[in-house]
Amino acid sequence: MYYIGIDLGTSAVKLLLMDEKGTVHKVVSKEYPICFPHPGWSEQSPEDWYAQSIEGIRELTADCEKEMVAGIGCGGQMHGLVALDDQDRVIRPAILWNDGRTAKQTEDLNQRIGKETLSKYTANIAFAGFTAPKLLWMREEEPENFARIEKIMLPKDYLSYCLSGVHCTDYSDASGTLLLDVEHKCWSREMLEICGVSEKQLPKLYESYEVVGTLKPELARGLGLSADVKIVAGAGDNAAAAVGTGTVGDGKCNISLGTSGTIFISSRKFGVDAHNALHSFAHADGHYHLMGCMLSAAACNKWWMEEILKTEDYAGEQAGIHKLGENQVFYLPYLMGERSPHNDPDARACFIGMSMDTGREEMTQAVLEGVAFALRDSLEVAKSLGIHLERTKICGGGAKSALWKRIIANVMNLKVDVIASEEGPGLGGAILAAVGCGEFADVEEAAAKLVRVVDTVEPEPELAAKYEERYAKFRKLYPALKETF
Ligand code: XUL
Repeated sequence: MYYIGIDLGTSAVKLLLMDEKGTVHKVVSKEYPICFPHPGWSEQSPEDWYAQSIEGIRELTADCEKEMVAGIGCGGQMHGLVALDDQDRVIRPAILWNDGRTAKQTEDLNQRIGKETLSKYTANIAFAGFTAPKLLWMREEEPENFARIEKIMLPKDYLSYCLSGVHCTDYSDASGTLLLDVEHKCWSREMLEICGVSEKQLPKLYESYEVVGTLKPELARGLGLSADVKIVAGAGDNAAAAVGTGTVGDGKCNISLGTSGTIFISSRKFGVDAHNALHSFAHADGHYHLMGCMLSAAACNKWWMEEILKTEDYAGEQAGIHKLGENQVFYLPYLMGERSPHNDPDARACFIGMSMDTGREEMTQAVLEGVAFALRDSLEVAKSLGIHLERTKICGGGAKSALWKRIIANVMNLKVDVIASEEGPGLGGAILAAVGCGEFADVEEAAAKLVRVVDTVEPEPELAAKYEERYAKFRKLYPALKETF
């Protein structure tokens, strides 16, 4: 049978067709625009996601035996607020995960309700970008829109709703709303009251691998697929990526180098970081995870290459980089503010330490290193919780670069296991669909059978020691600059 995995990302939707042995037969990518209406704001049109996903499914299945398609699973960009009215019309563009407009509401939640209370209700504190502060922003700034809300959903849930007609979400994605009691896997009555919304407006909760419905008959006809194609609840893109890299069960780690950058640590047991610097979320395997999220990872490299250097030849620009560990230039990757661990929507990116002989190679290298150092900041939080890691998986567009993987391995001092496919969330979505369709007993069994490590990048002791020194300096930069942002 075939399973379709959909990665509803920030720059594009990526779809893949996987069979029950884990072989990926085809990958299709469809882009859509992102709009930054004010500095630090970021929005997308849910209708674009749907239109491009349907085009993607059509192209993906164009030359396969269509009756063999059994299930669809989606991993989607997290935290985005999609609001529908009583006619199922999208009320306003979706406010995305990297949108920093809610600084006031976030501060208000953390101060007035208090971090301890929020953590008791949800296992997390408020971060600009989470869904609850967006609801509060809409209530304050767009009261007419807020009054029209009939249904609240996350990005991939909008897609599932269009495909199946079922208003649902899964625990991993719901964790990032700040409306879910993560430990007990139910909506938090207290948080709903604080945000002025009712459970009726929220999606029904499922495990990521549970079947929520089937493809709408008219859609199935139009796509030439069976109306029995099952739709599973799917997951937030990081949990889906973790499934796609086999980061399931206890104590495994995955690094995602997508538009955002995340370090994801799976756990069978629920746990909260005492300072809430890492997110404590449900996992798509039915258990839990801790996660640090930086807002601009591969996005920094894309910005540097395409907006500043005006090139798309990423490999060509990286080919001249040889002096690893010896770069005098630092780059702080806070183009959209920063989430983990600083929780500062006002932070901004900077280059520091240039001299007359600094060239584009040093600056390109600094961008790659700055992202790695910022991920290391979250790793340090995990270490302070007594979590000991020796290795990590890696996925996302940035993981295509051998140089970047080497930098990550040495800055983090971790063995980096490379998977046959770097399409983390798409592969994870397809695996969840296969589990939902009964192909495997559970997510852990599916990941063990389907995910293959093909290479490992080992840290090199001398280089790791050089990066240790550079990181000690990097760590001092944000606190020193914080007041100027
Ligand atoms: C995670 C987060 C990002 C988005 C990117 O908390 O905000 O990783 O999910 O799509």
